[in-house]
Amino acid sequence: MIIYVMKILSMIKIQIQSHISLTDCIMFLIKAWRTVAFGVYGYLNFTKAGFLEHSKNFKAEDMQARMDGKNCIVTGANSGIGFATAEDLASRGASVYLLCRSKERGETALSKIQTKTGNQNVYLEVCDLSSVSEIKSFAARFSSKDVPLHVLVNNAGIIENNRVVTSEGFELNFAVNVLGTYVLTETMLPLLEKAAPDARVITVSSGGMYSAPLTEDLQFSDKDFNGVMQYARNKRVQVALTERWAEIYKDKEIGFYAMHPGWSETPGVAKSLPGFSERLAGKLRTWEEGADTIIWLALQPKQKLVSGGFYFDRSEAPKHLPFAATAGSHAVIDSIIKNLCSLTGIAS
Ligand SMILES: NC(=O)c1ccc[n+]([C@@H]2O[C@H](COP(=O)([O-])OP(=O)(O)OC[C@H]3O[C@@H](n4cnc5c(N)ncnc54)[C@H](OP(=O)(O)O)[C@@H]3O)[C@@H](O)[C@H]2O)c1
Repeated sequence: MIIYVMKILSMIKIQIQSHISLTDCIMFLIKAWRTVAFGVYGYLNFTKAGFLEHSKNFKAEDMQARMDGKNCIVTGANSGIGFATAEDLASRGASVYLLCRSKERGETALSKIQTKTGNQNVYLEVCDLSSVSEIKSFAARFSSKDVPLHVLVNNAGIIENNRVVTSEGFELNFAVNVLGTYVLTETMLPLLEKAAPDARVITVSSGGMYSAPLTEDLQFSDKDFNGVMQYARNKRVQVALTERWAEIYKDKEIGFYAMHPGWSETPGVAKSLPGFSERLAGKLRTWEEGADTIIWLALQPKQKLVSGGFYFDRSEAPKHLPFAATAGSHAVIDSIIKNLCSLTGIAS
C-alpha cells in the first residue's frame, strides 16, 4: 500500500516538473487512480486471505460432479494453475489433453498426473502457443481425432518484461496471451460445437486487466515498452474477446467465460514479478486455489453461468473498476478482431 502511494507521489512530481497540458494531467490522474484502485482491490481480494474469506460462501455440492466421458484441453498444463486444473479434471475422470510447449516438462507433468489420479486418459500435446503456424498444425492434427471437445481452458500465459519479437514477427506477450488464445479457440470451434450444448471455453485472464483499457495498439509500439502493462492490455483483450465471442457464437451453444485466478504463487509469478512475489511471500494462493474457479466454471450447469462473463472466486465479477474509465474502450473490440483475423488468416 505504502509502495503504491510512493509510486503515485513520484509520478506526480515528474508530471509537475514537466509542465504538462490539462488533458495529459487528467489522463495521468486516471492512470494513477487505476493503479491505486487495482492495488487496493487486489490486496483485499486476490491474496490467500481473500480466497479464504470468499470460500466461506462456496457450496461443496458445486464441486461434486464427475467428468467421465468428457474431453478437455488445458494449455500451459505443465506448471502452476494449469497443472492444478489438469490434475483436478483428470481426477474427475475426464480425458485431459495437456498442451505444453516443452516435451520434457509436459512428460513430467503427464506422468505425475497419471500416477496421482490413476487416470490413464491423460495425453500430452506439444505446441508452442507463441507460433500461429504451430497452433494451426496442432489444430489440424487434433481435429482429425474428430472427438467432441467439452472444455477448452486457455490458461497458458506469460509476462515477458523485454520487447521480444517471435520468428513470425509478433511481440511475444501478445503472441502467447492474445494470438495463442484467439487462434486456438477459433480452430477448436468445430470440435466444441460437437460437444454443444455442454461445450465451454474458459480463458484465464488476470485482475491485472483492471489497470488497462482496451487499446488497438496490440503490439505495444510505444518506444517505452513495459511488459507488465502489455500483459495487462493482453488480459483486457481476453476479457473483451470472451464477451464478443459469446455474442458472435451464441447460436452455437458454446459458453465463453473469462476468469481471474487471484494472486497465486507460481513459477511464472516468481520469474516475471520477483519483487511482487517477495513482498507477498506467504500471502499468495496455492496453485489449487488459483485453479478453483476454472474447475467451478467447468462443472456448473451452463444455465447458472453468464456466457461472456468475467468470473472470480466462483462469482461473476465486474469487468471494470469504478471511475477507471476502461468500460467505453470495449467498443473497439470489433476492429481488434478484424486485426487478429488479418494477422492470423483466421476469421471469426
Ligand atoms: N499466478 C498468478 O498470480 C496469476 C494471476 C493472474 C493471472 N494468472 C494467469 O494464470 C495463467 C497461468 O499462469 P501461472 O501463474 O500458473 O504461471 P506458470 O506457472 O508460469 O504457468 C504458465 C504456463 O504457460 C505455459 N506457457 C508459456 N508460454 C507458452 C507458450 N508459448 N506455449 C505454450 N505454453 C506456454 C508455461 O509453460 P513453460 O513451463 O514451458 O514456461 C506454463 O505451463 C496465466 O495465463 C497467467 O496470466 C496468474
